[in-house]
Amino acid sequence: MNRIAIDEQTALVNAHAAGHVLLSLRDVHLQYGNTSVLNGIDLSVQRGQAVSIIGPSGSGKSTILRCINGLVSPQRGEIHVDGIDVRALTTDAQRIALRKRIGFVFQQYNLFPHLNVLDNLTIAPMRVLGRSRAEAEGDAHALLARVRLGNKAKAYAGALSGGQQQRVAIARTLAMRPDLILFDEVTSALDPETVGEVLNVIGELADEGQTCVLVTHEMRFAEDISDEVFFTEGGVIVEHGSAQQIFHDPVHERTRLFLQRARGEDCAGRMRRRDQRDTPTTHDTSIRRS
Ligand SMILES: Nc1ncnc2c1ncn2[C@@H]1O[C@H](COP(=O)(O)OP(=O)(O)OP(=O)(O)O)[C@@H](O)[C@H]1O
Ligand SMILES: [Mg+2]
Repeated sequence: MNRIAIDEQTALVNAHAAGHVLLSLRDVHLQYGNTSVLNGIDLSVQRGQAVSIIGPSGSGKSTILRCINGLVSPQRGEIHVDGIDVRALTTDAQRIALRKRIGFVFQQYNLFPHLNVLDNLTIAPMRVLGRSRAEAEGDAHALLARVRLGNKAKAYAGALSGGQQQRVAIARTLAMRPDLILFDEVTSALDPETVGEVLNVIGELADEGQTCVLVTHEMRFAEDISDEVFFTEGGVIVEHGSAQQIFHDPVHERTRLFLQRARGEDCAGRMRRRDQRDTPTTHDTSIRRS
């Protein structure tokens, strides 16, 4: 049995021992030079949960996600993904094995411009997971239907809207069948008209039980989708709880103030867009659950 297979088996055994917790961070501290960015982050996610991290700009949200998939290494604390001790990974092979299990969707979708949509979806499953072309293409067509782009398999990225490209990027992530998906502000670079279609796709994934951690400034979406919400400020989790509790009955004054401001901006942005377009915006995510 090779090293990766042993690691995966160990991970499975540990996961059973750990119950349903898929991801946990304990007392995670990270500094860049003399600047403390994370100051003792505790966070855990159960398999099947959708968890949101909200908070002001610079509070450490993206850094938390980057720690989870091993892109940056904290100086202190513990991070476990499905029983794998992320900080103990030492070889590239081990880190690659971890990243096969964790999808990461960014603001910039970074599709390969010289490949069509289908090839963008099949390249990693074939090259990294060793799937046959037939299997990878079968999967890709099913995923494109799931993100409502079944008719775009032969299109190139440049011929798609931002929202369509982001949905391709989500399908590309799903093609790796990850245990966990990290979403970092995936709608913040999109035209307002295409935000809703991307949020709806993510909402459906969460409803289907895909475990995910979302960093988002879309407060109504976070409220609608999340099993649990973490509010960060200054590199600490100020407060966490159910979406109902955080959004309607926050304990901390800082959470209350942040939400007040964020809702004000949400509302002002929506009105501005309505004035500009003279038509209603489409990203009323409450539609999804109604
Ligand atoms: N590579 C780096 N080197 C030095 N400082 C960094 C680096 N990456 C992030 N930081 C700092 O760490 C802090 C947290 O950054 P992070 O990107 O995690 O914030 P964020 O909550 O995601 O903010 P935003 O909502 O603007 O995306 C910021 O003060 C940022 O300037
Ligand atoms: Mg960020």
